This record gives sequence, C-alpha cells and structure tokens, in this order.
Amino acid sequence: MLKVENVHFSYGDRPVLRGVSLSVEPGEVRVIFGPNGSGKSTLLRVVAGILRPDRGRIVIDGEDVTDRPPEDRRVGYVPQRPTLFPHLTVRGNITYSLRNGRGDPDRLDELVKLLGLEEHLDRRPDELSGGYQSRVALARALFSDPRVLLLDEPLSDVDPAAKRDLVRRFREVLDRAGVPTLYVTHDPWEAECVGDSYTVLLGGRAVDVDTVDEAIERLKRGAGLGEGA
Ligand SMILES: Nc1ncnc2c1ncn2[C@@H]1O[C@H](COP(=O)(O)OP(=O)(O)O)[C@@H](O)[C@H]1O
Ligand SMILES: [Mg+2]
Repeated sequence: MLKVENVHFSYGDRPVLRGVSLSVEPGEVRVIFGPNGSGKSTLLRVVAGILRPDRGRIVIDGEDVTDRPPEDRRVGYVPQRPTLFPHLTVRGNITYSLRNGRGDPDRLDELVKLLGLEEHLDRRPDELSGGYQSRVALARALFSDPRVLLLDEPLSDVDPAAKRDLVRRFREVLDRAGVPTLYVTHDPWEAECVGDSYTVLLGGRAVDVDTVDEAIERLKRGAGLGEGA
C-alpha cells in the first residue's frame, strides 16, 4: 500500500504541494487529474524520491521511505517524457534493472506478450513509434519488480487510433502487476478505462472524488475560481 501523508513541497519560495494526502491499495490504479502546473509531476517525483518534501511522509507497505533515495524505494517511475537508453535494444532497455541486481528474468516473456513487443525485442528506441516507446517504458518499470508504480501521462504522445488498443493493454498489465499505481492523465476516456479511483490536484491540495465526471466538474469550478483558490 502507498500512503502520501500531508506532503508539502516548494520550488524555492513557490509552494506547489500544500498538504497532499492520498492512499492507494495494492492493485488499485488511482488517476490524478489537475490543470497544467498544478503539481502532478512534482507529486510523482516526491513519491519516487527524486524530490524531498518540505513536510509530510511517503509510506510504502507500512515503511516510511521519506528519507530513502530513489534506488532504495522500489518504485517504478515512468516520467512524462520517458527516455529509453538509445544504444540498447528493446530487450536491453526492459531488462536494464538486472545490472543493478533487480528484476525478474521470468517476467520478460509475460510483459513482452501482454504489451505486444515480440517483434520489437531487437530494435532500438529510435526505430519505434511513440506508442511502442511507451510500451517499453512501462515494461521496463514493471520488470524491476516495483512495490509502487507511477505513470506520468504515459500515453500523451500516442495517436488516438493506437491509444484505444494500448489503454486496454495497459489496464491488463496493471491488473496483473497488482501494485498501487498513480496514473496521471488529462483524458477522461483513458481515465475511465484504466482507473479504479480518482483524485483532483488543485491549488496544491488533493481531493478524492468518486467519478471521472466529478473530477471534470471540480476542474471546471477550480478554473473559474483561479488556481490558487
Ligand atoms: N524544476 C523546477 N523548478 C522550478 N519550478 C518548477 C520546476 N518544475 C516544475 N516547476 C513549477 O511547479 C509547478 C508544478 O509543475 P508540475 O509538477 O510539472 O505540474 P503538472 O505536472 O501538474 O503540469 C509549475 O508551476 C511549474 O512551472
Ligand atoms: Mg506534468
């Protein structure tokens, strides 16, 4: 289980997160909505351990990891613009964590099948479309056997036709992985397909809502009030 407890974070004197709390159960995909600049990517970086919160705690499976560096957290993180290693093949990218003594070689086949990467294993990233690069980034994150998964707009560069198929594949992969997942997207349809629960980040605070419609409604109202409200 992932718990974010009263997290505050500022870039210099500019507060971005002002007391964010949320929790995600094993196997739950919690979609994070929020306007541009509301701190979605910042929140994921705090959970990954790339940024340290000014206040608050990150707790994974009951263990306070706030003071632990990213490599000790076992968090799978796919940033907003994931960078694959250009000189490695798809196979080399997915299994990269083996170099750091992590990852389960038995998992490769299953991930490759579920994500439809069989024909691409020996290719290099620059030979792949945006959609296939996203598949590889997800496979790489899961291969390392994370306790928590963070996906920052993983399909934003994928064209709409390819996205329909890909969202369903992602959902199946996430179901099988069974780890708490934070998933950032702006796309209501994608959120509906992939999400179990929804949180809106607005004015530095996180509010859990019951449905995608409620999230959109809150965003509209929030925009009317101004972001700092
Ligand atoms: N490295 C940084 N240094 C200073 N300000 C930043 C940095 N990264 C993001 N910001 C600012 O913090 C706010 C939140 O950014 P971000 O977390 O990327 O928002 P989102 O992902 O919701 O669009 C924005 O105003 C952004 O300009
Ligand atoms: Mg972002």
